[in-house]
Amino acid sequence: MNVGFIGLGRMGIGMAANLLKAGHRVTVYNRTPAKAAPLIAQGANAAASVAHACQGDAVITMLADDEAVDGVVWQDDGIIDHLSPGAMHISSSTISVALSQRLSEEHTRVGQRFIAAPVFGRPEAAAAGKLFVVAAGDPVAVQAAGPLFEAIGQKTFVVSETPKAANLVKLSGNFLIASVIESLGEALALVGKGGVDPRQYVEFLTSTLFNVPVYKTYGGLIVDGTFEPAGFAAPLGYKDIRLALAAAEELRVPMPLANLVRDRFMTLLARGGEHSDWSAIGRLPAVDAGIAKN
Ligand SMILES: NC(=O)c1ccc[n+]([C@@H]2O[C@H](COP(=O)([O-])OP(=O)(O)OC[C@H]3O[C@@H](n4cnc5c(N)ncnc54)[C@H](OP(=O)(O)O)[C@@H]3O)[C@@H](O)[C@H]2O)c1
Repeated sequence: MNVGFIGLGRMGIGMAANLLKAGHRVTVYNRTPAKAAPLIAQGANAAASVAHACQGDAVITMLADDEAVDGVVWQDDGIIDHLSPGAMHISSSTISVALSQRLSEEHTRVGQRFIAAPVFGRPEAAAAGKLFVVAAGDPVAVQAAGPLFEAIGQKTFVVSETPKAANLVKLSGNFLIASVIESLGEALALVGKGGVDPRQYVEFLTSTLFNVPVYKTYGGLIVDGTFEPAGFAAPLGYKDIRLALAAAEELRVPMPLANLVRDRFMTLLARGGEHSDWSAIGRLPAVDAGIAKN
């Protein structure tokens, strides 16, 4: 397919590279143009503007947050003005349910197609083409986008014909992961202060009852204690919990644990964790217990 790709951050760079490897014609755009260089070396076309990245069958956005997506869609010379009728905007960023709904309505109004396709998996999974894609949108469009999802992910889950449902699933998933990080951090602080070797403890957990990727990945990250450079930056994790809470408020769903986790991110950021991986909230319980420095 002929596809534009906007947003070459930690995730986007690997996703775009895998689209190229799968044989798609990829035109890349990034606000900071230098980040496109490795992809151009791999055969991507460089777009000088958002508009230039909108000339194919589809454009994928993988941007930080609502503000960034809003900007590239509705700015002068943005996606909404330049994507061809019938072409698809595939939004893979983790954005709000409300923005996803607005994108769906506005693209439909001007005759374009919109698919929400947020992803699970960290930058290493993006680079390896091993993401899990959660897709929602018009079934014909979702099917047409199938070859793109196959290039970036190991599996695609189609959850609804209504795009915003995929964003809700993504936000709920990140709430769950953040809750696991918090609870792992508390358990590790407890056993650590009691003299148990934390690495052995994680090994025990993840080879018995907690033998799943999320405990392995985050147990390892917390025990290693190396939170920089970030794979998933703490401010983006904070954003996701706030977006989950916004969706919960809209739907009148009390989520007391999400409120607690939101405050943990606030603590991390208030103490200078701006550049940390989001898993650094998992160290806060050890700091509170007096066995780790801030
Ligand atoms: N990292 C993960 O593990 C992970 C996993 C799943 C989903 N996600 C989600 O995927 C999205 C991207 O994450 P990431 O880790 O790749 O983030 P990142 O490394 O911070 O990259 C963010 C991208 O957004 C661009 N951007 C930010 N603000 C912008 C603006 N106002 N206008 C135009 N472009 C803007 C950046 O451009 P510049 O290069 O110019 O700054 C960069 O291309 C986020 O929604 C995140 O929540 C991340």
